[in-house]
Amino acid sequence: MNKTLEFNVTKIRQQFPMLSQMMHGKPFIYLDSAATAHKPRCVVEAIVRFYEEQYATVNRAVYDFASQATTRYFDARRQIKEFLNAAFPEEIIFTKGTTEAINLVASSFCKAFVQPGDEIIISTLEHHSNIIPWQIACQERGAILKAIPINAQAELMLDEFDKLLTDRTRLVSVGHIANSTGTLNPVEEIIKRAHAKGAKVMIDGAQSAAHMPVDVQQMNADFYAFSGHKAYGPTGIGILYGKRHLLEKMPPYQGGGDMIDTVTLESATYQHPPLRFEAGTPMIAEVIGLCEALRFIESIGRERIQAWEMDLLHHATKKMQEIKGLKIIGTSPQKAGIISFTVEGLHPLDIGTLLDIRGIAVRTGHMCAQPALKALGVNSLTRISFAFYNTFEEVDTFVKALKEVILLLRPSLSY
Ligand SMILES: Cc1ncc(COP(=O)(O)O)c(C=O)c1O
Repeated sequence: MNKTLEFNVTKIRQQFPMLSQMMHGKPFIYLDSAATAHKPRCVVEAIVRFYEEQYATVNRAVYDFASQATTRYFDARRQIKEFLNAAFPEEIIFTKGTTEAINLVASSFCKAFVQPGDEIIISTLEHHSNIIPWQIACQERGAILKAIPINAQAELMLDEFDKLLTDRTRLVSVGHIANSTGTLNPVEEIIKRAHAKGAKVMIDGAQSAAHMPVDVQQMNADFYAFSGHKAYGPTGIGILYGKRHLLEKMPPYQGGGDMIDTVTLESATYQHPPLRFEAGTPMIAEVIGLCEALRFIESIGRERIQAWEMDLLHHATKKMQEIKGLKIIGTSPQKAGIISFTVEGLHPLDIGTLLDIRGIAVRTGHMCAQPALKALGVNSLTRISFAFYNTFEEVDTFVKALKEVILLLRPSLSY
């Protein structure tokens, strides 16, 4: 265990007011950051300051507050370009979240590039947000949707992926880190193989952007998406990165103000990306909050964050493996800080409810990944997930509480 990091975690936690709350009279232990992450004070303060002292619209007005807001909004795009190491700020599109970013690509890319009989590949491990938009797009375009199968460890089967790739494959869309099992997918290898067949690749980065270094150019992703609220920022804001030459060829996703060049009653011409894809008054305060969150992440450093969360993962995995009747679902050696599990004879809802009474927040259910759970032979899971603000003490308290819960519900599993 790294003591410097441990010291820093205390300092980090002081920035998150939610983490010093009580739940059912117990110190609150939050192990559900894969669902949504808590916000450091600087994010909340930046949003409040904007609304109280600086509020104005962007892109339209000439008065001073509006031009200041517009400058910040444009600077934000540059900051996010740096965060992902995109080549150009024009490759950064503001969306409502990962879900909207994937829907945007599924709709617009498919209109531009997918013909009847063409193929899209996803994987069995995907969040529903990376399944349904492709189902809809394939139905609309008369295209075929295929899925990379997974093995018992919840890893993508790359040999099977090779068999699915054909010269009709137009796009492959896979998660960077699976929210249901924590599997870290070999996205660079997937991108290489897809590109060799002439297919483009979208990476769902909802679970990776805030937890590890991400370099979209090095990865060579054609599209990459993440959500602000999982990266310690506000809800209602997300990012779509897309290679400029592809975005230039894609039609608008939605129509409205800001995305047009000229309009007559009969027709319109559109702005170049990114504005072409940002119809309407944008999420200005949310963009400001997200930028503050990304600055906070960068002030710690994503390598350090990843190392800390890996230490938590290994510590928790080791302790949980000792619990009788507990089975970890998703056992790839390549994992992020997410552990899903079942306990023989127990329903996750009961486990989650009894942990809640002990002040511990975990996720239970199908994890918005029903095909993945089906392939892994389970209906429902209990999941814990880590962020840089979690501690080893919290893991130990969770393991102790989980043992108590199991003993209460299934005394036969006692030692
Ligand atoms: C892997 C993955 N993809 C997509 C999403 C959807 O993100 P959002 O609901 O923020 O759009 C999630 C959310 O849990 C996720 O975990």
